Amino acid sequence: MTAKIIDGKEFAARVRAQVATHVTRLKDENGITPGLAVVLVGEDPASQVYVRSKGKMTVEVGMKSIEHKLDVDTPEVDLLALIDQLNNDPEIHGILVQLPLPKHLDEDLVINSIDPAKDVDGFHISNVGLLGTGQKSMVPCTPLGCLMMLRDHHGSISGMDAVVIGRSNIVGKPMAQLLLNDSATVTIAHSRTKDLAEVVRRADIVVAAVGRPEMVPGDWIKPGATVIDVGINRLDAPEKGEGKTKLVGDVHYESCAEVAGAITPVPGGVGPMTIACLLANTVTACCRANG
Ligand code: GUN
Repeated sequence: MTAKIIDGKEFAARVRAQVATHVTRLKDENGITPGLAVVLVGEDPASQVYVRSKGKMTVEVGMKSIEHKLDVDTPEVDLLALIDQLNNDPEIHGILVQLPLPKHLDEDLVINSIDPAKDVDGFHISNVGLLGTGQKSMVPCTPLGCLMMLRDHHGSISGMDAVVIGRSNIVGKPMAQLLLNDSATVTIAHSRTKDLAEVVRRADIVVAAVGRPEMVPGDWIKPGATVIDVGINRLDAPEKGEGKTKLVGDVHYESCAEVAGAITPVPGGVGPMTIACLLANTVTACCRANG
């Protein structure tokens, strides 16, 4: 079997087009422009790339983009004061603090100081609790993008066996919760899981979010299963030339694609969906704030 490639790039473009239509309507009918504030502390190169990309796409769909770039040694009180200011700014509907934060900052404290209604990442403890109890919440962007692709491919995932590899607060745990809310039977696997290969072989849906390059080989995949690869890992690629690198996921793409029924590529799978969902969450927050 050769897997169907789930094209996240194309799907994300469709989601962004829907967001843009919504933004136009909010402007024309209500005189409101949704605004997203992104806060970056320090100069982590990967974070800088993400933040630039988020800002560009925010503007492309017609929303207002505000970027706050703070020094790596910004005191916690200053960051909290900025968040307070953004919480009280009626032109800002979404706030995202790029993670990871420098070590001297308390990530939980910072995230939980964001107004939950503006928490477009869905990381605030109130949103985590709402999602966990199946109530209306802000849903973390990467798992939301994965769920949208799964629903699009399968229609319904009710009753399917799903394995999420990875238990991070950003992806693994909310992904498992979303799958459960859609009535899948969910297993969360992680670094201490015994016989991971056997656990993965039982799954109709595999979501890999461990951050270990090409960790899942094709012979772990049940024939016909759907594989969602959240990993974005940079590897040396001497075959492409001196000092060149390539992006790979958490699954070994070639071998998994031979066995799976459907698979997301890296790049061009989950990645573009994450930003599209961030934009969609910002419009949702704006609509909820304005009744
Ligand atoms: N760092 C890596 N992924 C994310 C994300 O989805 N949101 C934020 N705020 N930081 C991240």
